[in-house]
Amino acid sequence: MNQRTLNRIGLLGLALLMFLSLGFVPADQALVPFEDIAGPGSTGAAVAANGMVSTANRYATLAGLETLRAGGNAVDAMAVVQFVLNVAEPYASGIGGGNFIMIYDAASGEVIAIDGREEAPEAYSPDIFLDDQGEPVPFNDRSTGGNPVGVPGTLAATARALEEYGTISLEEALEPAIELARRGFVVDTPFALAIAADTERIALFEATAALYLDEDGQPLAAGDIFSNPDLADTLELIAQQGIEVFYEGEIAEDLVAAVQNAEFNPGVMELTDLAGYRAVRREPVSTTYRGYEVYGMNMPTSGGTTLMMMLNTLEGIDLPSMEWGSLSHIHRIAGAQNLAFADRNAYMGDADFVDVPVAGLLDKGYARERRGLMQLFNAIPTPVDPGTPPEVEEEETTTRWHDDTEGISTTHFSIVDGAGNLVSVTTTIERFFGSGVVVPGRGFLLNNELTDFESQGVDAEGNIIPNGPEGGKKLRRTALGEDAETEGGKRPRSSMSPTLVLRDGQPFMAVGSPGGSRIIGYTLNTILNVVDFDMELQEAVNASRAVARNGRIDLEPGLYADAALVAGLQAKGFEVGDLGWGGSVQAVMVGEDGLLYGAADPRREGLALGF
Ligand code: DON
Repeated sequence: MNQRTLNRIGLLGLALLMFLSLGFVPADQALVPFEDIAGPGSTGAAVAANGMVSTANRYATLAGLETLRAGGNAVDAMAVVQFVLNVAEPYASGIGGGNFIMIYDAASGEVIAIDGREEAPEAYSPDIFLDDQGEPVPFNDRSTGGNPVGVPGTLAATARALEEYGTISLEEALEPAIELARRGFVVDTPFALAIAADTERIALFEATAALYLDEDGQPLAAGDIFSNPDLADTLELIAQQGIEVFYEGEIAEDLVAAVQNAEFNPGVMELTDLAGYRAVRREPVSTTYRGYEVYGMNMPTSGGTTLMMMLNTLEGIDLPSMEWGSLSHIHRIAGAQNLAFADRNAYMGDADFVDVPVAGLLDKGYARERRGLMQLFNAIPTPVDPGTPPEVEEEETTTRWHDDTEGISTTHFSIVDGAGNLVSVTTTIERFFGSGVVVPGRGFLLNNELTDFESQGVDAEGNIIPNGPEGGKKLRRTALGEDAETEGGKRPRSSMSPTLVLRDGQPFMAVGSPGGSRIIGYTLNTILNVVDFDMELQEAVNASRAVARNGRIDLEPGLYADAALVAGLQAKGFEVGDLGWGGSVQAVMVGEDGLLYGAADPRREGLALGF
């Protein structure tokens, strides 16, 4: 067996390897050393005929599967999974955060994109993350407390999707989560490690410490029983009274008080910010790639558009003829990622606040032009300058290095049901434990999503840059349907990339990942592994990934261990880094045999199950 074959299938033994190989993940790249948390049970692919659920948490997968089994559709299972994740993986997502929901509706053949991204309160200002000297407050501080909390959108988006495309009520969708929160469950290793890694921040907030630390201030340990009666009551109240109680009622009052009175870094959110929040239908972005149709989320995430740009660039390169993991393969996918990231950083932000030339960026002719910058023998020197896509009159570059956090927080899940409905959701409270603030008496964590804005939000002339923090409200001009009439606050640029792939107009794959701005590369690698390298779904998820963001090319350990590859890339002029194992891709697929395949990422304790 040669090194490349080993790289390609090496993750079949990844779980074991992760336990044995300490030190793969540089401490600054992962809040939790995930080589410690991937369980041996998490590497199994699943195949079934009637429905498939893949999430990063076994309780969520089981609850989603039960929903499908009971006759619910993929959107019903989506809502159930989202709420159970809030209980069982509370440090990664929940009603205090935001999400993006992609749905393929088999009955109409339509792709639906619902934006539940958090938004800035009206009183926000561009200097919100700067200290008295005008310098950015270090990330750990600016992401903690009330100030970084965006108006949460997960509940509004989930409820909207359920109402428009589901078959069960919100009350029914909340039931499994309420039961789990009340009954309690065993703290698993990822949960325990996440608490242990964040004990200091958790201890800052009384309500948070009461939930996640014991009476002596020690983190809960794996094997402890964790229940959250406050969250059970909160979800029950929502089940009884609808989402209005969260956005305009007693929960809203407590949430705003928690932000304004946070023990650290109090924030400026008002009741009117919550009352004005809307989950927004967006036009999905799409492209074709070697005969497949690929759909992603539009602004305010850069994820969909940037991923499509990479695919457009790579379509003109004969990747399928290359050996997986070869120098040619990695050279090309690094180049495509670097080119797309240059434009991402220059142009993308909330398109309700700034003009983002999405159509031009996705133009195939533009991709051809940009591809021309890639050289056969050498790396394109990075950082690559952004290009001038068709819609842009004059090159206007505001390239900045967006200092995304790059942990493994956030979570992705994918579902397909027997009717061929596909769902792909990435959901987040930003970093693990979000802002650190639990709403007292309500049992859920608030996000720190507003740190996805640039910390220095204005250019040298004082103009707000595309992804600069802004207060106020603007018309939702990119909304579809009735929401075009409503105003909203600016939403920070995301990298989340929930993706749907169709083949000949029929459902094929749902895929995505957490991982900060590396999400886009993680998702790209997985799609290419299936489409260009003909891998089985689980193999595609497991395989070592290569991620570039207009700078270094970072390789996961399987690829990084290939000394000839690293030397070859360096000889071409690439700076090569050790990425560690990262991301957590959950994918489902409809095979040519008509069966449903599921794959959960062994990098976290995910589980794919079908029936
Ligand atoms: O929206 C985003 O792109 C990020 N806030 C997601 C965060 C994530 O994946 C984990 N990284 N810290």
